[in-house]
Amino acid sequence: MRLLLENIKELVQVEYKPVEKVSGAGMAKLRTVKNAFLMIKDELIEDFGPMSRLKSLDLDDDILMEIDCSGRLVFPSFCDSHTHIVYPSGREKEFVDKIKGLSYEEIARRGGGILNSAKLLHESSAEELYHQAINRVVEVIRLGTGAIEIKSGYGLNTDDELKMLRVVKWIKETTPITVRATFLGAHAIPQEYKSRVPEYVDLVINEMIPQVAGEGMADFIDVFCDKGFFSPDDTERILMAGVKYGLKPKIHANELDYSGGIQVGVKCNALSVDHLEFTGDEEIAVLKGSDTMPTILPGAAFFLGMPLSPVRKIIDAGLPVALASDFNPGSSPSGNMSFISSLGCIRYKMLPEEVINATTLNAAYAMGLSNQVGSIAKGKLANVFITSEIPGYSTIPYMFGSNLIETVILNGEIQTF
Ligand code: NIG
Ligand code: FE
Repeated sequence: MRLLLENIKELVQVEYKPVEKVSGAGMAKLRTVKNAFLMIKDELIEDFGPMSRLKSLDLDDDILMEIDCSGRLVFPSFCDSHTHIVYPSGREKEFVDKIKGLSYEEIARRGGGILNSAKLLHESSAEELYHQAINRVVEVIRLGTGAIEIKSGYGLNTDDELKMLRVVKWIKETTPITVRATFLGAHAIPQEYKSRVPEYVDLVINEMIPQVAGEGMADFIDVFCDKGFFSPDDTERILMAGVKYGLKPKIHANELDYSGGIQVGVKCNALSVDHLEFTGDEEIAVLKGSDTMPTILPGAAFFLGMPLSPVRKIIDAGLPVALASDFNPGSSPSGNMSFISSLGCIRYKMLPEEVINATTLNAAYAMGLSNQVGSIAKGKLANVFITSEIPGYSTIPYMFGSNLIETVILNGEIQTF
């Protein structure tokens, strides 16, 4: 079965020789084809190129559908490599507390924040969690996301962590979006372990990891390594235990302080280190020469009014950068990757080309998926979106708050909403 997108004004982020990520000055380079076609066969990209070549293709009759994309651009779907999209109801009360002046850390110290969500999650059934999460997943699909990482981390005990991961699996089985699951048992220290942190770390290592990995419930392991949460030593112990069970590290680091998170992430060969508000020369030096993707979460910095990660410095040092939404109830209640793109340009001074690389190919790398998604390349999954009639690709980050995505195709199928 074939689907043909023709007369595409500009086909964005095409790759003839696919690479797994782009770094440094390479991030400002973006390959496109003007007046292009895109041929999809079943769930894969079969071919693409200028319209002039389409006429010379030997096409048999099995084109099921042709879509005229005149005036419209086609992008590979966004990849969102960091979300906590499974959570029980929002935290609007804390939102108001923050407006009144309380900081994220103060809210957390009063038993709010992550612990508040953990309490609500404990009281919710898997069905209730799924029902809430699926609405968010459908929303982000409509907003152009085609691959997503989803973390546990509001369970904080073995049963509830597994309950969350079952919901993630259920989402994976019932939606067309590509899903990767991350076990984040070390997201916060439960109240009853406040003075016994090593015991909680032991619980994560000796009970949670073996069960999560034993049931094949996660691809990655995450730790919130930061001031007031888990130390670099705790983090290393947990990550190395996860690695033994085949879980690849991918961690929260340096959001609240120069906490050593980046160093321990790189030491454990993490796929990505995420947040990075507190990143200096030493952290940049450590990232250089590693395979770890520095991942920035502009929604969290925006929502919490945090200092900005030095993205320009990171890219100018020759490093790659990925951008992700961090969709969660406490620090970033949005999974809108077009808006994340706007923040990348406006607040972090990234070029539109850098932002597109950061939200597609590099974010795919941060999920270990850059051989499957993240660009328009032959043999990759046909996860793409068609824009409305816009002048060019910079219009996506430029028109912040607008949804310029008209049609979503996932696994070669047009999505209806
Ligand atoms: O990525 N930083 C830690 N975890 C989340 C926040 C989760 C929450 O507040 O519920 C984050 O920002
Ligand atoms: Fe997060």
